[in-house]
Amino acid sequence: MFYEPKKKNHGLPKNPFNSLVIPRPIGWISTVDEDGVFNLAPYSFFNAVCYSPPTVMFSSGIGNADDKNKDSARNVEATGEFVCNLATWDTRDQMNQSSATLPPDSDEIALTGLTPIESTLVAAPRIAEAPVHLECKYLKTVEISGWNETDVYKVIFGEVIGIHINEEVIREDGLIDVAKMMPIGRLGYNDYARVDEDSSFTLVRPD
Ligand SMILES: Cc1cc2nc3c(=O)[nH]c(=O)nc-3n(C[C@H](O)[C@H](O)[C@H](O)COP(=O)(O)O)c2cc1C
Repeated sequence: MFYEPKKKNHGLPKNPFNSLVIPRPIGWISTVDEDGVFNLAPYSFFNAVCYSPPTVMFSSGIGNADDKNKDSARNVEATGEFVCNLATWDTRDQMNQSSATLPPDSDEIALTGLTPIESTLVAAPRIAEAPVHLECKYLKTVEISGWNETDVYKVIFGEVIGIHINEEVIREDGLIDVAKMMPIGRLGYNDYARVDEDSSFTLVRPD
């Protein structure tokens, strides 16, 4: 089949786009607002985009608040900082719960029973239960207009200025034990993939 997204002529019961760019890593973004309220939410329009300096991005659709921002986007733009926590199999339920649409003064870290811990270089908290934390300094927002005139996507870029790795997932040979961390990725609809020993494999690149 072929379809043109703008014409919405796929003829399928659900928009398939989310099921075609997969699996997507999940940026589990923790921030703090200007009043000190913590916030946590998953973003799967997320990725690492550069190596040196390590740089990540996440894309936020419009939110329900008066300013049309989702809390994560508002907090990053206001404070200039965020943390990206690695979402894993063990924290899948809390990750999902933290996507609830809540007012800006709700703390999803408390709501989900997760443990906030201090970061080293930024004020945004880290999630103790996550094996990896990327402490990020806000770089810029690129706005992408939606099809509806009122829609805008905020693609937020941040430089990773500090990285925490749980020692338990560093193997004796110094490589990261990805299978042990069991990161999860987003597929389409409400589906996810898990990386573990059975689902990962190695390919040696040609010279
Ligand atoms: C796995 C997953 C991935 C998500 N990815 C995105 C995304 O890329 N962009 C987005 O705007 N919302 C995404 N959402 C929805 C947000 O998490 C949700 O709107 C949340 O309430 C935003 O929280 P905040 O206002 O505290 O930032 C995702 C939800 C889930 C469960």
